[in-house]
Amino acid sequence: MRPLPSRTLTRSNAQYKRALKRLPLGVASTFRYWGDDRTIYASHGKGGRIWDIDDNGYVDYRLGYGPAILGYGDDRVDAAARRGIEVGGVFALSTERELIVADRIAKMVPGVDLVRFSNSGTEAVMAALRLARAHTGRDSYLLIEGAYHGLFDAAMWMANLEDWDQSANRDPEITAYSKGIPQELKTLAHLVPMNDLQRLEDTFRRHGDTMAAMLIEPIQGNCCGIAASVDYVRLARELCTRYGVLLIIDEVKTGFRVAKGGVQSLYGVTPDISTFAKAVANGYPIAVVAGREGVMRTFRYGGAAHGGTYTAHSVSLAAAEECLRILDETPALQTIATYGETLKAGISRILERRGIVHSYAGHASMFGLFFAEKAPDNYRDWKTSDYSFYDQMAYFLHDLGIIVEPDSREPWFVCEAHGLDATCLSDTLKAVETAVDLTLEHFEAEKRA
Ligand SMILES: Cc1ncc(COP(=O)(O)O)c(C=O)c1O
Repeated sequence: MRPLPSRTLTRSNAQYKRALKRLPLGVASTFRYWGDDRTIYASHGKGGRIWDIDDNGYVDYRLGYGPAILGYGDDRVDAAARRGIEVGGVFALSTERELIVADRIAKMVPGVDLVRFSNSGTEAVMAALRLARAHTGRDSYLLIEGAYHGLFDAAMWMANLEDWDQSANRDPEITAYSKGIPQELKTLAHLVPMNDLQRLEDTFRRHGDTMAAMLIEPIQGNCCGIAASVDYVRLARELCTRYGVLLIIDEVKTGFRVAKGGVQSLYGVTPDISTFAKAVANGYPIAVVAGREGVMRTFRYGGAAHGGTYTAHSVSLAAAEECLRILDETPALQTIATYGETLKAGISRILERRGIVHSYAGHASMFGLFFAEKAPDNYRDWKTSDYSFYDQMAYFLHDLGIIVEPDSREPWFVCEAHGLDATCLSDTLKAVETAVDLTLEHFEAEKRA
C-alpha cells in the first residue's frame, strides 16, 4: 500500500491543547471539533480556499456551511462592509439602508412582500415560528425528518434512527438533538418523512386544525441535499392552505444560492413565510424573515414580538446590499452552478473508471455525493445506506488539501470564486482521484485483515 498522505498540524494541535483550557472542546462551536489531533484552526481564507495556522492550503467546499457564496474575503463585499463601519454600528434606530435591502429581497423573491432582519438563521426561523403561532393562535407545528432549522428548542426534535428497528414497521421515536430541551415541548412537534405524500395527508387530517406551521427545506441543506419532489411541496402548500397552517420555507441554506428567487422559485411554490441567512451577505452575520403582507404585519405591538440589539447592524446590512446586488445583477449564480456541474462530472468520471456506483442529490451549488445507484428520497434512506466509503474518503481529502464536512450529510458548497480560480477544479479532481484510490485500498486492507 502506498504511503498515506499527511499534513503537518503541529500548530493546530498545540492550539487545540491551549484552547481546551478555556473553550469547551477547544472550539467556539461544537461542530468545529474534529478530534484531538485533527481539529484545525483557520488562519485566513480567500476566494474558494482557506489556510490553517500550519499554512496548509485547502480548496474549501464547506464554505463555513454555505455563507461564502462569492468566496472568502470578496473585495466588493468587503469594501461595502467598510462603508458600513463608517455608518457607526447599531443605534437602536432604523437606517435607510434597511429599506434598500428589503426592496432588493422583495424584487428577487416573488413571494416576499415584507421583510424583517435577524442575526442568524436560528434567530430567523425562531421568529418565523413565533410569527406563525401569533398569526394562527395555534402552538404545534410540523417538521420533516432530516431537516435542520437551527439550535432553538422547538426545532431540535429529530427522528431517532440510531435506535430505529426498520423491520418493526413503525416510525422512529422522536428525540431531542441535545440534552437540555424540555420534554414537555415534544408534544408540540410532529415529524413526517420527506416525500411520503400519504403520510403528509394523514398528518394534516389528524393534526392540521391545531398546527400553526409546517417547516420545510425543499432541498435539505443538512441532509445530503435530499430534495422533495415538486408534487410533495405542492401538496404541502395545498394542505397548509386547506387547514389554515402557515407554510414556512426555510431558505437559510438555499436562499440566494440555488436561484435568485431561492428554492421556492425552482418549485414554483409560494410560502407564507421564508427565512434566509447564509448567502445574504457573503458571511457577514445577517438573516431575514420575510413573507406575505397579511402575515408579516403580525409583527407589531400586541402581536408577535420581534427585534434585538444587533438587528440590521450597519456592517452586515451594507455587505448584504452589495452581495445581493452581485447575485441579482451579475452571472455569479450561473458561474457557481456551472462549476458545480463540472465538478460533479469530474468526480463521476473518476468513480466510473473504478466501477464505483454513485449518485448526487441536491443542486449543483450544494450537492450531496452518495454511494448508491439512486440518491435518497428521505432521511431514513440515507441512514440505512452505506456511507462508510464517504466518511473514509473525506478523511483522506482533508490530508490532500480539500475541505469537505466529515459527515456525509453536509453537502458540498460551491462559491463564485471556485469557478473563477484557474486551478480549483484541477486541484480538487487530482485530490479526489487519490482519495478514492486510498479509500479503496483502505477497505481492501480491512477485508484482508
Ligand atoms: C436550513 C437551516 N436553517 C437554520 C439554520 C441555522 O442557522 P444558523 O447556524 O445561522 O443559526 C441552518 C444552519 O445551518 C440551516 O441550514
